Amino acid sequence: MLRTHTCGELRAEQVGQSVTLCGWVDTYRDHGGGLFVDLRDRYGLTQVVFNPPDSSAEVIEASKSLRSEYVLAVEGNVAERPTGMANPKLATGAIEVRVTRFRLLNKSLTPPISPSSLELPGEDLRLKYRYLDLRRREMQQTLMLRDRLIKQMRDYFAEHDFLDVETPVLGRSTPEGARDYLVPSRVHPGSFYALPQSPQLYKQILMIAGYDRYVQVARCFRDEDLRADRQPEFTQLDLEMSFVDADDIMNLLDGLVVRLAKQERDIDLSVPLPRMTYAEAMDRFGHDAPDLRFGLELVDCTDLAAEAEFRVFSSVANSGGKVRCINAKNGTKHYSRRGIDALTKFVGDYGAKGLAWFRVEEDGKLNSTIAKNFTAELLAKFAQRMEAEPGDLLLFVADRWEVTCKALHALRTKMGREMKLYDPQSMHFSWVTEFPMFEYDDEAERWTAMHHPFTAPLEEDLPLLDQQPGKCRAQAYDLVINGSEAGGGTIRIHDAGTQQKVFGLLGIDEQTARSQFGFLLEALQYGAPPHGGIALGIDRLVMLFGQLENIRDAIAFPKTQRAADLMTEAPGEVDLQQLRELGLRIRLDD
Ligand code: AMO
Ligand code: AMP
Repeated sequence: MLRTHTCGELRAEQVGQSVTLCGWVDTYRDHGGGLFVDLRDRYGLTQVVFNPPDSSAEVIEASKSLRSEYVLAVEGNVAERPTGMANPKLATGAIEVRVTRFRLLNKSLTPPISPSSLELPGEDLRLKYRYLDLRRREMQQTLMLRDRLIKQMRDYFAEHDFLDVETPVLGRSTPEGARDYLVPSRVHPGSFYALPQSPQLYKQILMIAGYDRYVQVARCFRDEDLRADRQPEFTQLDLEMSFVDADDIMNLLDGLVVRLAKQERDIDLSVPLPRMTYAEAMDRFGHDAPDLRFGLELVDCTDLAAEAEFRVFSSVANSGGKVRCINAKNGTKHYSRRGIDALTKFVGDYGAKGLAWFRVEEDGKLNSTIAKNFTAELLAKFAQRMEAEPGDLLLFVADRWEVTCKALHALRTKMGREMKLYDPQSMHFSWVTEFPMFEYDDEAERWTAMHHPFTAPLEEDLPLLDQQPGKCRAQAYDLVINGSEAGGGTIRIHDAGTQQKVFGLLGIDEQTARSQFGFLLEALQYGAPPHGGIALGIDRLVMLFGQLENIRDAIAFPKTQRAADLMTEAPGEVDLQQLRELGLRIRLDD
């Protein structure tokens, strides 16, 4: 070994020892007489000092050529820092290493981004020079967090008898709702593998094969529009179990969540974690992954609105729409007239045609520019429904149910943050259950699976499959953390007949079903056990536990919004010869 200790290791106890450290020059300060260097590795920083009497004149002279990111091996004596010079913020802050000899292991060009800089460099540079960016403390901490989370998950499921089984990356398309990444086959010209959107079908096959409990840290590939919490290539903690119901799976996952929360945040959670149906979540929060760290719940006022002279309310209420309201407690302090105008513009981005508002005056009466359109009695009823108190701000959206959900959810999220209704460091974990089986796609004019086509309906809703598929609920559950979907799963259909029927409802005709999922339909007929599972988004868990705004910061080598890797410059062009071998020709004209 070139070193005796790491740069994060030395403490007062080692004072007097002679040590050798290796690392990068994080910062250097020339004090005329000598040089102070913070030497860095992934374990930490240690101050190394090139000063007499420990350092000879030659050593000091040689140290003058050191620059940022040079790689050194330094030998020296651990000494207590002079009085008043200790740095309590640094783990090694009590000591310094007084250098007797050093070896320059490598030089560095002037780095285009500085790992020691407190200012965050531009993201394009960070991605292009990822090896420099990954030297930054925050990135080191994130990758260590990621490692701890994955290790804890692996340990937990191993303790519960799960078997880690790898599934193919070159496979057949699995329908998770995104576009596939395709890989052309050379051996079968004109045929393609699809990279898995998840190991869904393989894990179900493993259950049919009798493996009972499967787990995998699995890479998934989805060619979809990227957002702050989506990558084209991401990682799931994927699992499947036989002979279980939805509660069994949630209970098991509760145990994992308790451990992760304790390990990473010292939070003591009580189980079972709160569970709420999809219907309740949409009613109270307008969203299927509500942030439960604060209130600002949505309240339905459609019945009251129907009585109003105010046309905006009554016309919507009397034509099947909804009028829903948020009571921002003490909101008048936070939002002036101009502030409310900004909120109105904001909900406009989510399809709302306006934002009706009332301030609650000292006497408890509702006041607004639109108040004249309401009788005093009706205003009193609104105040009562909304539990209005002086200083509150009532905000209404009148529209189709879907628009009220979207706009008020966005508004609630924004106001919760702006009004500082929760500690951004805090974490809240819950389940949302009983999602609808199907969503209607207005454009395509057909039903689509809300989770995926292998999801089993609730037993009691089975009859609805034929009559009212839109009302049919699924044995589905999502793990929600701080308003973000951290994972999702379902109990699966385990008989071929029901599976055929669901394919039919989704507009997948028998022939397509046979050609795409023939193996599944066949396997289901060879003694498929009842089974179900879930997948957690590991990148999202890292974001949530690491309080990261962007999923790219949770991944060592992420892709940009345009799905490119700026360091390796993937995707790249290929040789004509390679294309020829694959039987492919590029056409960019249409
Ligand atoms: P689902 O599609 O809900 O379920 O995915 C599970 C979890 O994976 C994460 N996730 C993503 N993370 C980053 N980038 C993406 N593009 C992305 N897409 C999804 C989310 C999500 O909750 N096979 C089913 C699971 C099952 O039924 O067992 C599945 O993949 O955190
Ligand atoms: P208007 O009648 O368009 O002048 O709007 C009067 C008030 O009602 C304004 O504060 C609008 O923001 C609000 N408003 C208009 N349409 C809606 C709607 N669909 N839902 C809630 N408020 C609305």
